[in-house]
Amino acid sequence: MDKLIAELRTFMKENDVTSTYVANEIDISKTALSQWMSKTYNGDNEKITDRVSNFLRREKLRSTALKLPIVDISTMMYIKEVAALCHTRGRIGVCVGSAGLGKTVAAKEYVKKYIDAILIESDYSYTARSLLLELHKALGLSCKGCVYNLMEEVVEKLQNSGRLIIIDEAENLRREALEMTRRIHDKTGVGLLLIGREVLLQNLRGRQNQYDQLYSRVMYKKHLGNLAMNDVITIVAKSGLSTDLAKTFYGCCKGNTRRLEHLICNSIVVAQINDREEVDESIVKETSKMLMDKE
Ligand SMILES: Nc1ncnc2c1ncn2[C@@H]1O[C@H](COP(=O)(O)OP(=O)(O)O)[C@@H](O)[C@H]1O
Ligand SMILES: [Mg+2]
Repeated sequence: MDKLIAELRTFMKENDVTSTYVANEIDISKTALSQWMSKTYNGDNEKITDRVSNFLRREKLRSTALKLPIVDISTMMYIKEVAALCHTRGRIGVCVGSAGLGKTVAAKEYVKKYIDAILIESDYSYTARSLLLELHKALGLSCKGCVYNLMEEVVEKLQNSGRLIIIDEAENLRREALEMTRRIHDKTGVGLLLIGREVLLQNLRGRQNQYDQLYSRVMYKKHLGNLAMNDVITIVAKSGLSTDLAKTFYGCCKGNTRRLEHLICNSIVVAQINDREEVDESIVKETSKMLMDKE
């Protein structure tokens, strides 16, 4: 019991949690809890011990990291390369790959590092106007007026600025919005990087190659492939698990970074639920069977 009381005290201190909160969570009175903690409780001590133990166990599971630290994987490296080329040479580039590879994470890392790069995270059915408004917000412009005026302001601001515009999920852009990005690039000389799923290439070309004017302006094109074994080793190592498990993770993650992240984080939780000291191959495989495939 002493050990449990000490654990509870540490938990409360580290997480800034009051005894009122704990008492509420385990459905006993605050007085009973403080008496139990000072070992002066005359009631059913076993009941409180049991509840405190379950409470701490639940909180531990809850606080298990559900995100991985960001590491250098091939998706990140390729996007960084194409972005740097578009940025420094003022050209148009396209990076395409399936969902969950790490495209958005890579784009965000790039703009974090190079603050003159602008990231637009496009949404379904982005029109030319909505795109212009996003650019206005990113550039601190007025956000006022018709499309023509919005465009004029953007062009004036970006003219010979040497900046880079990255549009994520660019497959969402309607034709007019795509054409407008090209016009902004033409008029200002800024670099433009379009990131999205494979369908983006078809959107750029048009079903009958009717939009060759835009497609032919693309200078750099990169198809992003699945995660490589080396990427999996890097991610597994960074998550604190043994790299001996990398092969199993590689086999179960289907080359997808998001799936690998879920697999790692949930395997850790499953190991804890089963009071296992470490994640092992069987836990990874069992967890993999439980995960839904999401694109
Ligand atoms: N470089 C990375 N390091 C660690 N985790 C990553 C990395 N890239 C992506 N992830 C994880 O994979 C998931 C999918 O990444 P995301 O960038 O949203 O994929 P996409 O944009 O290609 O659909 C995210 O939850 C993210 O935490
Ligand atoms: Mg994305």
